[in-house]
Amino acid sequence: MDTKNNYQNPLNDIDDWEDNLKERYPDPKTSSKEKEAFRNYVDSERVETVKEFYRINHMNQTYDFVCKKEEEFLKFNKKEMSIWEAIDFLNTLVDDSDPDIDLDQLQHLLQTSEAIRADGHPDWFVLTGFIHDLGKVLCLFGEPQWAVVGDTFPVGCRFSNKIVYPEFFKNNPDFTNPKYNTKYGVYSPNCGLDNVKMSWGHDEYLYQILKDYLPEPALYIIRYHSFYSQHRENEYEYLMNEKDKEMFEWVKKFNPYDLYTKAPVKPDSQALKPYYQDIVKKYLPDVLKF
Ligand SMILES: [Fe+2]
Ligand SMILES: [Fe+2]
Repeated sequence: MDTKNNYQNPLNDIDDWEDNLKERYPDPKTSSKEKEAFRNYVDSERVETVKEFYRINHMNQTYDFVCKKEEEFLKFNKKEMSIWEAIDFLNTLVDDSDPDIDLDQLQHLLQTSEAIRADGHPDWFVLTGFIHDLGKVLCLFGEPQWAVVGDTFPVGCRFSNKIVYPEFFKNNPDFTNPKYNTKYGVYSPNCGLDNVKMSWGHDEYLYQILKDYLPEPALYIIRYHSFYSQHRENEYEYLMNEKDKEMFEWVKKFNPYDLYTKAPVKPDSQALKPYYQDIVKKYLPDVLKF
């Protein structure tokens, strides 16, 4: 399926927004020379497409839009798949920008999970790395890029100006709606993130699919891994309860694996399959409803 080439889908590749993430949050372990090289690699055309992507994301992610998407997708009547079928399905999202630099979806998942595994973390954490982006199958159900990837943020209350390209929120109808544009909006102090609607995308969708099966820290990682304005900027602590604050330590622990892992040698997916089959079987049912 062609997921680009129309005004709803400005990115050549749905992961191009991650270049922008790496520019905003560079790996503290890279040298200034490497950072410079990276800046040169992020060419101006890509900067413009990412900017356009956020322009339509910020304009369209309203409280009502999220309610509509929840109604549409949380019926889970689109497709039944095993984790393996979901990975194969996701991997049909072909990257057509630069085959040398960019990874296919399976490689991104495997590199993330293998780095977690190499650091000796528990198996559920490795599994979380292995599946955290499967919600991106939304693209293959015809959803526009801006409703699948990108930073996520709370809707129903004031948008933080630490969210990337905050100026684009001026085009969001909620920006001028007094119901939604105050600090707390429809929420109350420290009401807990479980009561807060996040902008719609692959994070919330996969969380909803898996919420009965994984340990709580894994679910937080999946649900909030793109919530940079909190896990990097701490802009929404006033909506969080004590449990959220505790669980966000795991979200923060996960983020560098997601953002900075680039293995010099690609993990061999065939050789690793038996290990992943075991942990998938340990935690997840044979078939999941998407
Ligand atoms: Fe993601
Ligand atoms: Fe990821």
